[in-house]
Amino acid sequence: MCGIIGYTGKKNATQVLVKGLSRLEYRGYDSAGVAVIRDQELVIRKKKGKLSVLRDDLKKDPIQGKTGIGHTRWATHGVPNDVNAHPHYDHKEKIAIVHNGIIENYLDLKKMLERKGYKFVSETDSEAIAHLISSNYKGDLRKAVQDSAKQMEGSYSIAAVHKGEPGRIVGMRNDSPLIIGIGEGENFIASDIPAVLDYTKKVVYLDNKEIVDLNEKTVLVYGPNGRKKKKKEVEIKWDISQAEKNGFRHFMLKEIFEQPEVIKNILEERIEKENVKFDELKITKNQLKKTKKIAIVACGTAYHAGLTAQYAIEEVAKVPVWVDTSSEFRYRDPLVDKETLVIVVSQSGETADTLAALREAREKGAKVLAICNVLGSSIAREADGVIYTHAGPEIAVASTKAYTAQLVVLYLFAYYLASARGSKKNSGFIKEIKSLPAAAKKLLDQYSSKRNKIAKYASEFHEYYLARNNKSCFLYLGRNVNYPNAIEGALKLKEISYISAEGYPAGEMKHGPIALIDENPWVVCIAVKGATYEKMLSNIQEIKARGGIIIAIATEGDAKLKKSKVEYVIETPRIKELFSPAIVVIPLQLLAYYVAAEFGYDIDQPRNLAKSVTVE
Ligand code: F6R
Repeated sequence: MCGIIGYTGKKNATQVLVKGLSRLEYRGYDSAGVAVIRDQELVIRKKKGKLSVLRDDLKKDPIQGKTGIGHTRWATHGVPNDVNAHPHYDHKEKIAIVHNGIIENYLDLKKMLERKGYKFVSETDSEAIAHLISSNYKGDLRKAVQDSAKQMEGSYSIAAVHKGEPGRIVGMRNDSPLIIGIGEGENFIASDIPAVLDYTKKVVYLDNKEIVDLNEKTVLVYGPNGRKKKKKEVEIKWDISQAEKNGFRHFMLKEIFEQPEVIKNILEERIEKENVKFDELKITKNQLKKTKKIAIVACGTAYHAGLTAQYAIEEVAKVPVWVDTSSEFRYRDPLVDKETLVIVVSQSGETADTLAALREAREKGAKVLAICNVLGSSIAREADGVIYTHAGPEIAVASTKAYTAQLVVLYLFAYYLASARGSKKNSGFIKEIKSLPAAAKKLLDQYSSKRNKIAKYASEFHEYYLARNNKSCFLYLGRNVNYPNAIEGALKLKEISYISAEGYPAGEMKHGPIALIDENPWVVCIAVKGATYEKMLSNIQEIKARGGIIIAIATEGDAKLKKSKVEYVIETPRIKELFSPAIVVIPLQLLAYYVAAEFGYDIDQPRNLAKSVTVE
């Protein structure tokens, strides 16, 4: 999961590439590099570290040229260092390539190429691609790439240039994303749309095994058999400003604050009087009527949205649901068939495990519905039906607004499914769900100043943690519809502040985790009003009795909870319990954010992570 870009036109290619890479840095940020054709030379510059290291180097010693390719890396094969960074040369330094994905047969390719005299300098699988293209090169880069594709196994999107063919870039994809940006007298290829949006809104989505051959004037797409293909141009509706921080310190904070608007837009787009509409959904109501069971399959935060949807779909549409992580589902020979609807949830639409799970489910005859944020992504295109969350670009690695958008879309889908199956219209559902944007806004308005209550709690935790020689940790407890939020809150905290955090269903405490409670961990208890509220109050007493420090997430005006003398209380607006996860998660996101800010960590680009996991 790396980011790749290619540019050919009249501008200074290095500048375009570096700017494009800054829009792709969310995909990987342990090293970056560019290859630019300067006169008759092919110059590569690559550096370990964030893009800023490369940018500084290029400022000191610029490379002039009109055509080039660039890469931002998330290491799979070989540690992050200058040599393993992309682009990679072939052994004659005539060809340069960038690669996103994994070449599974690279050891075989390497052996074969070494026998032919090719010398490898890096520890990467990607370098084999450069040598392979070189071994197939007979004066036409596109043909060489096409022949090489026949020998490569694995997932990849690549871009290649040859110094003898200046102005030409050849790209290819197989299971990793690649889009083409169509400009005026210039053209682009990239892993994702934000990389080209500063220059053009016209894009073409490349399909698996297609090859693109571009120069500043023409863009030609070929199928794997070498036959030319006609492709549809798509006009991107959103603006690059949506992929900028707009005065917020971090993308994550900006995206948290965008949530009221995101929820509002979804509801306005999807609700018409008492009906829910999903215009783009190709699965018919009749097909939904025949559904006997539903499997929701996703990874990470999207999986947590799926866990919440299980409550909603079972309650509203009365269809049995099970939820699985994609990486388990795909290897378990899951029991899905023609009567199963498999819902895959993915912000990026490119997560390798979720894509594989989708294929597995379709092979077994199930209908697959994708809930995706990224338009035209692989998962969206391969599913039988898609519902877009339209949350706008999510840049911070830690997912926030995409999660609430997934929740809201899944709630609406539960309602849609119920009506498809002949249930009576429930006007209470529509009325209640419409109160979500105002509730989210009301909540966030309390936390818009820098010195807000959650920031203060985070600062107290930080002091506590240091005073106890870094010994403290977090436990998140929730029940019923807010149990998935307990794991989501813990995930948010650990991924950006590197503090150990565990999420648990509160009722399970007495079966083990209560042994952890002493004065060390801080325990976040989701205790909003609902069916298990009283039970949660008892759990709180059990924790207090053992010296645990509690942050309670409460419903506003809850005097009873205040009497239980928990150390910290965060109030949330009153909302129907089924929909409360979309509100309750917001303070959990803010808490994770402010704790990470106290520690001074790189919030938008946490260590070891990348936004979309396009490898297994
Ligand atoms: C956590 C996070 C990840 C993703 C997961 C799935 O904040 O962002 O856990 O949720 O990698 O990604 P998508 O939704 O793109 O399939």
